[in-house]
Amino acid sequence: MTENSELRGFYKLTMGERRQLLKKVTSLSDDEIKILANTGGLPAETADHMIENVVGGYTYPLGVATNFTINGKDYLVPMALEEPSVVAAASNAAKMARVKGGFKVTNTGPVMIGQIQVVNVPKPEGAKAKLLERKIDLLKKANDQDPMLVSLGGGAKDLNVKVLSSLKGPMVIAELIVNTGDAMGANAVNTMAEAVAPMVEEITGGRALLRIISNLADRRLVRATAVFDRETIGGGDVVDGIVYAYAFADADPYRCATHNKGIMNGVVAVGIACGQDIRALEAGAHSYASRNGRYKPLTTWEKNRDGDLVGTLEMPMAVGLVGGAARTHPAARANIRMLGVKTAIELAEVMGAVGLAQNFAALRALASEGIQKGHMKLHAHNVASSAGATGELIDIIAARLIEERKIRFDRAKELVAELSKEK
Ligand code: MEV
Repeated sequence: MTENSELRGFYKLTMGERRQLLKKVTSLSDDEIKILANTGGLPAETADHMIENVVGGYTYPLGVATNFTINGKDYLVPMALEEPSVVAAASNAAKMARVKGGFKVTNTGPVMIGQIQVVNVPKPEGAKAKLLERKIDLLKKANDQDPMLVSLGGGAKDLNVKVLSSLKGPMVIAELIVNTGDAMGANAVNTMAEAVAPMVEEITGGRALLRIISNLADRRLVRATAVFDRETIGGGDVVDGIVYAYAFADADPYRCATHNKGIMNGVVAVGIACGQDIRALEAGAHSYASRNGRYKPLTTWEKNRDGDLVGTLEMPMAVGLVGGAARTHPAARANIRMLGVKTAIELAEVMGAVGLAQNFAALRALASEGIQKGHMKLHAHNVASSAGATGELIDIIAARLIEERKIRFDRAKELVAELSKEK
């Protein structure tokens, strides 16, 4: 807490000086400042250059999901997140998927869209036709910005133009369709969009306003599928239960938001571990889920002729291996090496499989014993540990909290005091 948040020149200070100042203007203790200063596996200097006004680091637990076999190849999947049960659920789902060969995933290529908004266009439909006539010139201008990407087979490949009727009247939107290769592509696409904007103005007679990538990456999809053996997953009732659970999500946006949240538990955790822009992944996922005007599940679940469960997932997956934190963050680099992916589309495919696995695990639990049992066990361990329990006391106190049905910090504290005395 502070009385005055106007810290003039804060950005000019060194990290250490910023912390000193923070200490002065907040109620943070020396110990708290020390905790915030810790940048973990990220060198302080790197952190200081990644974002602005850096004072330290913030660490998530890093778990490794096991058992994944995707397109015939095995993967150990790094996942960084704060929520208990997610890594265990992914590993367990992947183990069950293995029985029928694991996950099969395809993708539509690393294609992103860059939008140029043009306003005050005298003749919008005519301008659209003119822009399309000059497509080759516009693509050339875009590609001149990134000869490296072009030399690797990427670059601006096509131009789409639409006339929108908006709150402010008609506007022309020129869209560059860009193959971004192994990059997530925001930098490449934004640079291209800005570079072609003056030409777009000249051709249309209008004013180019926004020039920016679209996070509705519907040309950069992954499609994952897996067959889950009926007996392995608990029998015909479980299969039917999961199909019903899917039908619920398909029919009701309130349930669907949670259904898709479960998918993102996996996608985002791998995304964080591998240095991806997870805000872009979330934006892409949810806008894609609503693309037809109704919010829908990113997965489907059905029963096949043998009575087994078949799951599919289709969603945008804008990820990259070059540029951004995937390059600058040493832990992200190590995780990408642990995973062993060689291209951005391979990373996208793994993340699609993890999303499907995560959704399967959640629906299976929800359609049978519910998620609280497993969740509460882990939650009890967290509560015990944050109440000060260490070593074997964590297990003992967690078991007591569950037995007493009081998974609460105050009770855990009492037990820590009581049992530490006894020891
Ligand atoms: C919790 O983080 C995720 C779930 O709520 C997903 C779902 O309900 O499908 C369990």
